[in-house]
Amino acid sequence: MQFEINKFNEEGFAGPFEFLNIKNCNKLLNEKYLPKQNFGWTKSIHEKSSKVVNFASSEIILEKIKNILGSDILLWGSCFIEQKPGNQHSWHIDLEYKQWDGVTIWVGLKNLNNNTPLSIISHSHNINSFPQALKDKNVNIQNDEDVLFEAKKIDPRCELKTFYLKPGEFIIWSGKIWHKTNNQSKKNRESIILQYCSTDNVVKIPVNYDYKNMKWSDNKPACILVSGKDKKKFNNVLDKSKFKTKENFFFETLKFFEVQYYKSRYILSSIYRKIFTK
Ligand SMILES: [Fe+2]
Repeated sequence: MQFEINKFNEEGFAGPFEFLNIKNCNKLLNEKYLPKQNFGWTKSIHEKSSKVVNFASSEIILEKIKNILGSDILLWGSCFIEQKPGNQHSWHIDLEYKQWDGVTIWVGLKNLNNNTPLSIISHSHNINSFPQALKDKNVNIQNDEDVLFEAKKIDPRCELKTFYLKPGEFIIWSGKIWHKTNNQSKKNRESIILQYCSTDNVVKIPVNYDYKNMKWSDNKPACILVSGKDKKKFNNVLDKSKFKTKENFFFETLKFFEVQYYKSRYILSSIYRKIFTK
């Protein structure tokens, strides 16, 4: 699929695009076991993961988002999302984008099929409302027709678009696009979101997600300059050269055992929580 900037600006999304093979999906997914207490906040895996930084800096992504954001680009957010069978993430926007502009790349990693739809409402990025606010007006934000009806009242061009991505494919959307995901399958669905903005934005860490009373941390989130220069110096930008992956047998073996260690810890603590938090 070709990326067309005019279409993206009008509709608010582009894709799906092919990105990773299964081997690379699994390599990336292994990073989800890195201990979360090492990150400044939930959406900061890039702070400790060379793999996430390197995949997020891939040319196939950058060549597209440079058209949207210009050449000076920060990766400000990265987060693995494990969606349990039967779970739905109702219609919403990512509330950070009420504070600054940017784009999200949503990459499918594992167990994606016709039972794991991802939906967006086209043109909704330009609407001066969002699903979380509709909920307060008693709109059922789990219901596609109800949410679409509200969007169309503001902009009749809005349309429901549902995608069934394959593992390794991604979609790009404008930060304020209305979106939802659903896992009707019997297995956990795994994905990662990568979130970018131009260097003219000031990025912050939310300490809650209540749109009527958003609170922000005084700590600055760690960002990575994935393209261009940070002339503005508004943000805490980490030096990307420190994230160069060392491609040699010794490093790969060490990394393999590190991942296995974190994976075992993760699985054991999940079992512990299941047994003792019932
Ligand atoms: Fe979201």
